[in-house]
Amino acid sequence: MHFDPVTFRQDFPYFTHADAVVYLDNAATTLKPRCLIDVTVDFYQSAGSVHRSQYDEKQTALYEQARSRVKRLINAEDEHAVIWTSGTTQAINTVANGLLPHLKAGDEIIISEADHHANFVTWHQIAEKSGAKIHVLPIGDDWLIDSDTLLKNLNARTKLVALNFASNVTGTQQPVKQLIRLIRANSTALVLLDAAQAISHIKIDLADLDADFIAFSAHKIYGPTGLGVLSGKLSALNLLQPLQYGGKMINKVSKQQITFAELPYRLEAGTPNIAAVIGFNAVLAWLSQWDIEEMEAAAVRLAETTRQRLSGYAQCKLFNSPQPSSVISFVFEDVNASDLATLLAEQNIALRVGEHCAQPYLARLGQAATLRLSFAPYNVEAEVDAFFATLDKSLELLR
Ligand code: ALA
Repeated sequence: MHFDPVTFRQDFPYFTHADAVVYLDNAATTLKPRCLIDVTVDFYQSAGSVHRSQYDEKQTALYEQARSRVKRLINAEDEHAVIWTSGTTQAINTVANGLLPHLKAGDEIIISEADHHANFVTWHQIAEKSGAKIHVLPIGDDWLIDSDTLLKNLNARTKLVALNFASNVTGTQQPVKQLIRLIRANSTALVLLDAAQAISHIKIDLADLDADFIAFSAHKIYGPTGLGVLSGKLSALNLLQPLQYGGKMINKVSKQQITFAELPYRLEAGTPNIAAVIGFNAVLAWLSQWDIEEMEAAAVRLAETTRQRLSGYAQCKLFNSPQPSSVISFVFEDVNASDLATLLAEQNIALRVGEHCAQPYLARLGQAATLRLSFAPYNVEAEVDAFFATLDKSLELLR
């Protein structure tokens, strides 16, 4: 079905509140559709777990159906290659800690200035624990990873390259397919994609990308918080030592010996976030009626109008991505970003300000903080107008 922003917006109860804040912080988390809220309420009014007993079969079927939907969403190798985590951060930590037994002093790990702290800090810690060396690739003035520097850093000791798919600071999309090809041609390194910001904007085809691991969060794509996905190649996922041990991740436990279950359960110890998974199942079913590229085009159109209007403001510096993007990072060189965000928030405009959990990126931009607007396909022109009216008043007050 062709994407229809009016119908799409109607599926979000948030907009029925008369006093709803103008929400332009969708890169932080998206609003939630009615289907998620309904399924979550139903779940908490019902009883039982999943995969524990005969009576919970119906719930278990929905829970496992969500895995199939994720498999289709990203064209994963197998449903068993879809592992539930608490978010992108836990997914990356699962890979990093899971590879620890395979890393030793002298091995090399490559990350970049484009990374969110979830990637940047995690791999630094793993390097410290294993004795591996970290290379931080620079990003150019277009915020893209420099492929020549990547090439120079690849060698027989490179064990892992963690790539940012799309930036939460500028929205810049890295040419991950080409970068992965380069990595494959010049090393045997495993490749992890941090797709937290890509998942709701780009049609992901994991088989075509040829990444070993991919991580994203449900809440960035209209799903619940507290749920993420780790996926990738079964061969790569099977290398991982579990991050957590406990119920459901075992095969046999005796006083003498413990054996672990197969994927995905081996990496999913304990009672899972059932409400979130079956809620996400409903979200993915609802979302499948729309084309993600058409949705993205709607959000980008609005962002581009906003970008153009902002570029007419005195002292406004924009940090544009090389591609059209629904994310706009900017500062006013004569106004404190945090003061401006506070004034905007007091007048019901929600955007993000600060370092965006990406201090190396901000250092690269030469900024202590930026303001960030991030659009979703449910945003409308009237919200952009409300933002500018409030911005004008606020700038006048601050200057
Ligand atoms: N990483 C999320 C953001 O950029 C929370 O806002």
